[in-house]
Amino acid sequence: AARLKMRILELNRQAARFFHHNLTTPAGATGLRYFRERGLSDDTIKRFGLGYSLEGWSSLCDHLKGQGFTERELLEARVAAQGKSGKGCYDLFRGRAMFPIIDLRGNVIGFGGRVIGEGGPKYLNSPDTPVFKKSRNLFALNRAKSSKLDGLILAEGYMDVIALHQAGFDNAVATLGTSLTAEQTQLIAKYCNEVTIAYDSDGAGQNATRRAINLFADVGVKIRVLKMEGAKDPDEYIKKFGATRFKLLLENCNNAIEFEISKLRAKYDIETADGKVNFLNEFSKLMAGIRNPVERDVYVKKVSGELAVSPEAVLQLIGTNVKRKV
Ligand code: UTP
Ligand code: MN
Ligand code: MN
Ligand code: MN
Ligand code: MN
Repeated sequence: AARLKMRILELNRQAARFFHHNLTTPAGATGLRYFRERGLSDDTIKRFGLGYSLEGWSSLCDHLKGQGFTERELLEARVAAQGKSGKGCYDLFRGRAMFPIIDLRGNVIGFGGRVIGEGGPKYLNSPDTPVFKKSRNLFALNRAKSSKLDGLILAEGYMDVIALHQAGFDNAVATLGTSLTAEQTQLIAKYCNEVTIAYDSDGAGQNATRRAINLFADVGVKIRVLKMEGAKDPDEYIKKFGATRFKLLLENCNNAIEFEISKLRAKYDIETADGKVNFLNEFSKLMAGIRNPVERDVYVKKVSGELAVSPEAVLQLIGTNVKRKV
């Protein structure tokens, strides 16, 4: 098994080299054009080892076989799939912009491949293999771990992370096409004690943010949440508004509680009496979960001021919620 793992890692490295090399050939020009159109510099493309998987069915398989890799190794590495008839195999990634996934030791452990043009899925990711466990790795942690910046930025996508690094935020990482796992938060907790969540601004991203807040609470990592308006993700934000504006966003991040409060504000119409009461009920439950009384006081003062209700009444409401908890 140890030998197979070594072979898969070597195979992956050769595959990544092949994909990257394709960018410089006529057949791979589509890939290079794609990355450039998305605003990546040649330096960034090189640093992240980005590449292109050729159209057709077997360019990678042929290349790797030529280097002495067996069909079994190609299948175990999951860069190839078994042909329908049971014999022969074909390339899993075809005509895609390729993102190698590199672990903390610098090994290429898998790939993400983005469709160019029509068709789906938008991103195809290597399935788990003997050397690749999606739930235990993060994209670009190998680079982010030595960043001089404080904490980590957690984004959704490969392109977000790469755009962030290119803009100087080289402490960005992302999950690998799955939602955040407890193992990933434990891994992150080894490197930092503060994470800024910079997920997409759509509903899915916001739900994932809430999930991440809870997962990070379990490992004692402090959370800040980026409040992004006018763009759907960090990549788009930086392209539209620039790195300086993004830095301002980072500096004006909400903490987890502020994020939850702003979600509640969006949920209820606080202009109506009903909405106000319902909002305050949920707000009190949220506050009841905060142990630090000073921290609690800050939010109570702020919210009661904004809603023009007495802080005493809000504190009373929190009191009932605290009692209900025990
Ligand atoms: P998004 O749909 O937000 O895409 O998925 P994106 O990163 O903004 O992609 P671009 O900018 O259009 O290129 C976020 C992440 O979710 C995973 C990928 O890891 C992607 O980067 N994903 C998404 C998949 O694994 N498969 C998919 O089909 C789509
Ligand atoms: Mn993106
Ligand atoms: Mn998304
Ligand atoms: Mn995007
Ligand atoms: Mn996105």
